[in-house]
Amino acid sequence: MYLTYLLPLALAAYASAQSLTEILAQNNATLSTLTSLLQLVPDLFQTLSTAQNITLLAPSNEAFTNLLSRNPRSAELMTNPRALSGVLQYHVLSGKSLSTDFTTSPIFPSTLLSTPFANVTGGQKLQLTLLNETASLFSGYKQASSDLTFANSNNTLHIISSVLTVPAPLSQTLSNINLTSLVGALTTARLSSGTSSLQDMTLFAPSNPAFQAIGSAASGLSDTDLANILGYHLVPSRILFSPRLLAQDQIVLATLQGSNLTIRRDGNQLFVNSARVILGDVLVGNGVVHVIDNVLNPSNTSATPDPAAATQAPAFAGVTPVADIPFTSGIVPTTTFVPVTVPLNGAGKGAFAAVPTGVMLAAGAVVLAAVM
Ligand SMILES: *[C@@H]1O[C@H](CO)[C@@H](O)[C@H](O)[C@H]1NC(C)=O
Ligand SMILES: *[C@@H]1O[C@H](CO)[C@@H](O)[C@H](O)[C@H]1NC(C)=O
Ligand SMILES: *[C@@H]1O[C@H](CO)[C@@H](O)[C@H](O)[C@H]1NC(C)=O
Ligand SMILES: *[C@@H]1O[C@H](CO)[C@@H](O)[C@H](O)[C@H]1NC(C)=O
Ligand SMILES: *[C@@H]1O[C@H](CO)[C@@H](O)[C@H](O)[C@H]1NC(C)=O
Ligand SMILES: *[C@@H]1O[C@H](CO)[C@@H](O)[C@H](O)[C@H]1NC(C)=O
Ligand SMILES: *[C@@H]1O[C@H](CO)[C@@H](O)[C@H](O)[C@H]1NC(C)=O
Ligand SMILES: *[C@@H]1O[C@H](CO)[C@@H](O)[C@H](O)[C@H]1NC(C)=O
Repeated sequence: MYLTYLLPLALAAYASAQSLTEILAQNNATLSTLTSLLQLVPDLFQTLSTAQNITLLAPSNEAFTNLLSRNPRSAELMTNPRALSGVLQYHVLSGKSLSTDFTTSPIFPSTLLSTPFANVTGGQKLQLTLLNETASLFSGYKQASSDLTFANSNNTLHIISSVLTVPAPLSQTLSNINLTSLVGALTTARLSSGTSSLQDMTLFAPSNPAFQAIGSAASGLSDTDLANILGYHLVPSRILFSPRLLAQDQIVLATLQGSNLTIRRDGNQLFVNSARVILGDVLVGNGVVHVIDNVLNPSNTSATPDPAAATQAPAFAGVTPVADIPFTSGIVPTTTFVPVTVPLNGAGKGAFAAVPTGVMLAAGAVVLAAVM
């Protein structure tokens, strides 16, 4: 362990001069595809050759091969420097990301990906979590990469065996993770593009069963009432990840609609008014989405949960459930991703749902769409 002190000065000097691009060259057997792709984006290559305080999450050759075989469209990505630059920027973290940074409580470091591919102040984020004692990364659609190798002792380069998915715009993400009722409701209330273009936001997104539970009321809502209800689910100008929400017993947040909502924690569970967060921290192009099991009611800001109960009473008095999923006429999920189920904070074990191979997305579909 005292070896460091014995390093000859010359060697130490050489080590300190080592840049990320030099480390890439040393790992050429595993990273030659990435190295050749980086030649196509000189600005980023330059950053990697000179910057000191960054971490490269370097997809292996196999990661690119898998991406191409799962989605032939990703070949376009490899030849479009602007789109490629976007995808690769999402693989560079600001700051050093140490192996010890991976704990059961997730952290969300910034990447170099910014506008127009992300509307997130300080750069798009990525989730780092120790799940099942495995260092895991979660990117767009909560897709997991849990096969990371800490390649060099200085924590500036880690090898990953799948290409990260750039978080998609809000409406696209909601549609792809099967929240069709919310997509339909936002469309009906003409809030779809407005909410997707906000800079920084946190959305509490009711599941389809949540909308079914207030079904008898849903059909009779005016567009204005619906817009008020949906606006009550969105916290503008702030990206609030679960660890921040779990940090206090109670947090009051102002919504787009104007009324406050109350976040309460119960152990590792989070409640928004009386709704339970059933899937936390889904990264989107302009912030974060937490999926909840009840529709929130801006006229019922005092609704409180019964944490012991598996399901909560609807926050709308006198409603009855319906079998048909409200607002979904004409709405189909574009493709369906099964997000990874990760416990909000730790102690529990996560479960990676099987992702149907047919729907594996090009990691860069979002950036391709933005440059086409
Ligand atoms: C590791 O990083 C530190 C500061 O960021 C630097 O002083 C040191 O020389 C680096 N070591 C290697 C092996 O690159
Ligand atoms: C890196 O590997 C690729 C593919 O195997 C090869 O074509 C290239 O010459 C190698 N580069 C270096 C610097 O070894
Ligand atoms: C390195 O980057 C991180 C994250 O951007 C920042 O918090 C930290 O101050 C930086 N450290 C240095 C030495 O520049
Ligand atoms: C998507 O939602 C519909 C309606 O709630 C449901 O029948 C279907 O099983 C869901 N699909 C997935 C993959 O979760
Ligand atoms: C929301 O809560 C803040 C305190 O956190 C309070 O000052 C404000 O009046 C509340 N707004 C409404 C509409 O109740
Ligand atoms: C960023 O905002 C613009 C509108 O200002 C929107 O068109 C675009 O889809 C957003 N991008 C992402 C990745 O969310
Ligand atoms: C408010 O929500 C509670 C459930 O938390 C429900 O029992 C009650 O009926 C609701 N009140 C109104 C006025 O909608
Ligand atoms: C974590 O471990 C549990 C049980 O030990 C297992 O069911 C689950 O699939 C594992 N999750 C991951 C992401 O490996």
